[in-house]
Amino acid sequence: MKVVGFVGSPRENGSTDALIREVLKGAEEAGAETRLYNLAQMDISGCRACMGCKEGDGCEVDDDMQDLYEELHGCGGVVIGTPIYFYNMSAQTKAFTDRLYALLGPGFSKRLGEDRPTVFVVTQGADDPSLFRPVIDKMAEAFGLAGLSVRDTILQACSDGAEGVLRDEELQTRAREAGRALLQ
Ligand SMILES: Cc1cc2nc3c(=O)[nH]c(=O)nc-3n(C[C@H](O)[C@H](O)[C@H](O)COP(=O)(O)O)c2cc1C
Repeated sequence: MKVVGFVGSPRENGSTDALIREVLKGAEEAGAETRLYNLAQMDISGCRACMGCKEGDGCEVDDDMQDLYEELHGCGGVVIGTPIYFYNMSAQTKAFTDRLYALLGPGFSKRLGEDRPTVFVVTQGADDPSLFRPVIDKMAEAFGLAGLSVRDTILQACSDGAEGVLRDEELQTRAREAGRALLQ
């Protein structure tokens, strides 16, 4: 089974990237093949609301999201990670999320067929882990609408880059377990 990770932080060696890598390591330990994409390094425009995906069978915007649609169709599990930016997901993650609209057919039917089990990774600067919980839950709900069914959310509060993830053995263990569980 293939598990695909999407990093929504522009920082290549940030905490979101490091945590997603831990989840993917767990998935690999359980036998998965993995692939990691950084959304900030890709050409992914916002949804144009052309409704081409409702009149036809997919998104008409010709950019890197086309490769990611293919990955989403071909994979068995997903890891999505975003830093909290101004109380929400990053702009890069939002563009990706809006484009998931093309995974919905007429009547909000799911083009992916079977839901893909998904781990959601969130990092934030604030030290209170409950601060953005309502927003995080809503984001997870939105992924679910498109067929990316969030099974587990790994949240790092008070984040301070990849070093913080590598220092926190408990967090790493949690992330790896979540990755392993994607294959169960
Ligand atoms: C533009 C911007 C907005 C941010 N807004 C918030 C915020 O609203 N709440 C918060 O707790 N942290 C906020 N942060 C901090 C990031 O969420 C935090 O540093 C995050 O872990 C960065 O992830 P990264 O290391 O993967 O880049 C913000 C950071 C940036 C750059």
